[in-house]
Amino acid sequence: MNISFADVSLTKPGVLALLVCEDSVLSGFAADLDRKADGAIKRAIKASSFTGKSGSILELVALAGITAHRTILIGIGKRAELTTTILEHAGGDLHGRIGKTKEAVAIVVDGAHSAKIEPGEAAARVAFGAALRSYKFDKYKTRAKDKDAADAALKSLTIMTKAATAARKAYAPLAKMTEAIYFARDLVNEPANVLTPVEFAKRVRGLSRLGLKIEVLGEAQMRKLGMGSLLGVGQGSVQESQLVIMRWNGGKTTEKPVAFVGKGVCFDTGGISIKPAAGMEDMKGDMGGAAAVAGLLYTLAARKAKVNAIGVLGLVENMPDGNAQRPGDIVTSMSGQTIEVINTDAEGRLVLADALWYTQKRFKPKFMVDLATLTGAIMVALGKEYAGLFASDDKLASQLIEAGEAEGEKVWRMPMGPAYDKMIESRKADMKNTGGRDGGSISAAQFIKRFVNDVPWAHLDVAGTAMASPPTSINQSWGSGWGVRILNRLVEDYYEA
Ligand code: BES
Ligand code: MN
Ligand code: ZN
Repeated sequence: MNISFADVSLTKPGVLALLVCEDSVLSGFAADLDRKADGAIKRAIKASSFTGKSGSILELVALAGITAHRTILIGIGKRAELTTTILEHAGGDLHGRIGKTKEAVAIVVDGAHSAKIEPGEAAARVAFGAALRSYKFDKYKTRAKDKDAADAALKSLTIMTKAATAARKAYAPLAKMTEAIYFARDLVNEPANVLTPVEFAKRVRGLSRLGLKIEVLGEAQMRKLGMGSLLGVGQGSVQESQLVIMRWNGGKTTEKPVAFVGKGVCFDTGGISIKPAAGMEDMKGDMGGAAAVAGLLYTLAARKAKVNAIGVLGLVENMPDGNAQRPGDIVTSMSGQTIEVINTDAEGRLVLADALWYTQKRFKPKFMVDLATLTGAIMVALGKEYAGLFASDDKLASQLIEAGEAEGEKVWRMPMGPAYDKMIESRKADMKNTGGRDGGSISAAQFIKRFVNDVPWAHLDVAGTAMASPPTSINQSWGSGWGVRILNRLVEDYYEA
């Protein structure tokens, strides 16, 4: 979908949308329009249950005195409570309503809505929301009727604003972020017969066009590094495990980088501790953490962020073949610590153990954040609204909480501590890879913590948010691309502070 910004004009659009506040009569441009329609808009609002509440829509058809065939009012709630998230959702809701129209569509964002948000920023946020909503994953739909449906998709949207120049400027980085989120969503949606670890690495390699430095380690190189923990997970698969290292050097050469590590289990059968059949198809999304990290590096590079950032992706397939690792096996990680593998389905932490150790050892980062679809237990605790946040560093934790609130990717901090750490003590090795059912997300985090070696660290358990989360105004895709936004904001805020 093509998005453009233009001055406010009444004549062009076949569909005209307006933002309406909950606690005020029509203002600015909407008031002008209402006069043209001889007060019909006000009367319609009065006659309907539409109050301007955020998330509500009222559509008026063929109003006398107005060129547009459809006039759509989109509620954005109380003026004093307006946020960029609400504006994004308004853009998304508009797209949801007119996603298939063939007529020219314009939405007026006249900037009169909030003192806190600049008019250009407001217009850009509406555009961003519409762009995120318009994502579709339909590349495997081949039948004519599906193709027709795809062709019917809205081709262009005009955002009308008195601040068109400022809006274009504010939208530029958001357009890049949209591309990055699309990239992450595509990776999560792609089935595992297509998106093998090697294919994942290949797609990330393609991002070198943005100026990212990409390295890919295969199994032989990882073996030399002693990554017995990660390699054990992939050893039951015919697909070769990969470790991808992405580097964006936009900051000073002397400045230490910030680092992000993603769990990239391209398919998680559970291995020999095999999962039940029902719902197992969802485990193609078990690389959502790695997809988000790739998306983050994409957006940093595309907007030429003045930061040094590292992304490390541990890419494996967890399969149960004759060479698969067994429950009871003891593996030696790159850190030298040994792990008794009680359950081969607790594989994400085994991948992260070596990926995190490698990252801190090689790059000495200022901090590390890992993202992983790590535990079903995090959904028992938090549902699909919040991702679980675990951190060794209070400052990093509060920065993540703030970044998540601002970007609509919310995180909830979970406890950690020595009593939880005890749960993964093993009698036969330095630790075991499961800590039992109770507090399953926490013992998983304690496990990972043993491989961060005192670098300030946070872990986001995104099992409930990266995939199969409920559709929203700005995301209708199974793979949500969750994580790109919160991490981008974290990096921005970290360097501003
Ligand atoms: N990838 C799963 C976690 C998961 C489950 C993500 C559902 C998304 C949706 C992870 O590898 C896993 O299997 N975890 C186990 C851990 C257990 C064996 C200790 C779990 O959560 O059951
Ligand atoms: Mn698993
Ligand atoms: Zn998994």
